[in-house]
Amino acid sequence: MIPKWVTIHIERPRAKRLANYLIELTEPGHTILDCGCGTMYVANLIHQASGARIIGSDILNFNESELEMCVCPGENLPFADSSVDVVLLIFVLHHSQEPESILRESIRVARKRVIIFEDVYENRFELGFLKIFDWLGNRTVSASIPLPFTFKPEAEWKRIFHDLGTKLISANPVRPLFFLPTRHRGFVVDVE
Ligand SMILES: C[S@@+](CC[C@H](N)C(=O)[O-])C[C@H]1O[C@@H](n2cnc3c(N)ncnc32)[C@H](O)[C@@H]1O
Repeated sequence: MIPKWVTIHIERPRAKRLANYLIELTEPGHTILDCGCGTMYVANLIHQASGARIIGSDILNFNESELEMCVCPGENLPFADSSVDVVLLIFVLHHSQEPESILRESIRVARKRVIIFEDVYENRFELGFLKIFDWLGNRTVSASIPLPFTFKPEAEWKRIFHDLGTKLISANPVRPLFFLPTRHRGFVVDVE
């Protein structure tokens, strides 16, 4: 159970900010898989704004919405090839020891695009900050979320997207919470 103060002061405002970016990047008719969906506050806001059909998946069940979700690892998604229009990977890749496996699976399942929001860093100092904020942010939600800290610099993500055969459409700054001093990017890659 997520503490109420975390829901009110962190999770809800964060979801609103993230959904605002994502509503611009998705279309009402899209079917969307939100891999690593967490509470599904973000998914629910997109659904309410656009009517898009959204399914969640996560290794843990924090779903606080009426939307459907499955408990499964992003590294092995139980969905057919090209079965959804868009896969969302919103601050999930750095929770996996094998982020590239989650990306590969997402590219397989997506018909059009994969949207990735990630914490990125440029030097060891920024990486240290990311680890501290990731630990604080996730441990206030649950002790069970894996924290392998598999963060990467922006250039490294771009190389991986290219090597996996996707086309990078955009890479823009994202601010999940106004007071966070850490660096975040929203990547849009097309798989068509
Ligand atoms: C920082 S939370 C982000 C939740 C949601 N995407 C959001 O932005 O509100 C990371 C989520 O990824 C999930 N997660 C961690 N490892 C995963 C994996 N290997 N496959 C799928 N989900 C995973 C965690 O359980 C957690 O809910």
